[in-house]
Amino acid sequence: MKTLIVYYSRTNVTKGIAEKLQKELDCDIEEITDDGKYNGKLGFLKGGMNASMGRSSDINPITKNPADYDLVIIGTPVWASNMAAPVFTYLIQNKDKIKNMASFCTCMGGGYEEALAKIAEVSCKKQISTMFLTSKDIENPSEKINNFINKIE
Ligand SMILES: Cc1cc2nc3c(=O)[nH]c(=O)nc-3n(C[C@H](O)[C@H](O)[C@H](O)COP(=O)(O)O)c2cc1C
Repeated sequence: MKTLIVYYSRTNVTKGIAEKLQKELDCDIEEITDDGKYNGKLGFLKGGMNASMGRSSDINPITKNPADYDLVIIGTPVWASNMAAPVFTYLIQNKDKIKNMASFCTCMGGGYEEALAKIAEVSCKKQISTMFLTSKDIENPSEKINNFINKIE
């Protein structure tokens, strides 16, 4: 199965998990970037506001066409019990090119159910597998990652 991981990460937590998954699955990976729009304290506030209001925001052009893959795995930090705004933008722009989908999120400790539900809703796709990682899980994510992967393969 040809798989692509697409993720956004403001402070590298989601990035770390996405890269672990990529190693396990030996697949392609693409980071959604936005030229640091959400950096710093102001960026935090802007991110919380945009996510809670369900706003999209500008992202840089992507390099990989999701239509070329059997499975797209979306990774996002939880922002205000939602996906990060750049991930929302990516899904709006690309959902019709995605055949099958799985998703995961990282968070401090709450809002992950809502964020994952929103991803399924916005993409109009049943998720083959989902995973959330709280700050407690991040140091030792292997079990959750294995469970997530088992449902995919
Ligand atoms: C704007 C904003 C809103 C957030 N909202 C939540 C939240 O609702 N629940 C939660 O548990 N963590 C929340 N967080 C914390 C992040 O989800 C968490 O630190 C995440 O692992 C960061 O991932 P990253 O380093 O890939 O950006 C929020 C962070 C930001 C920047």
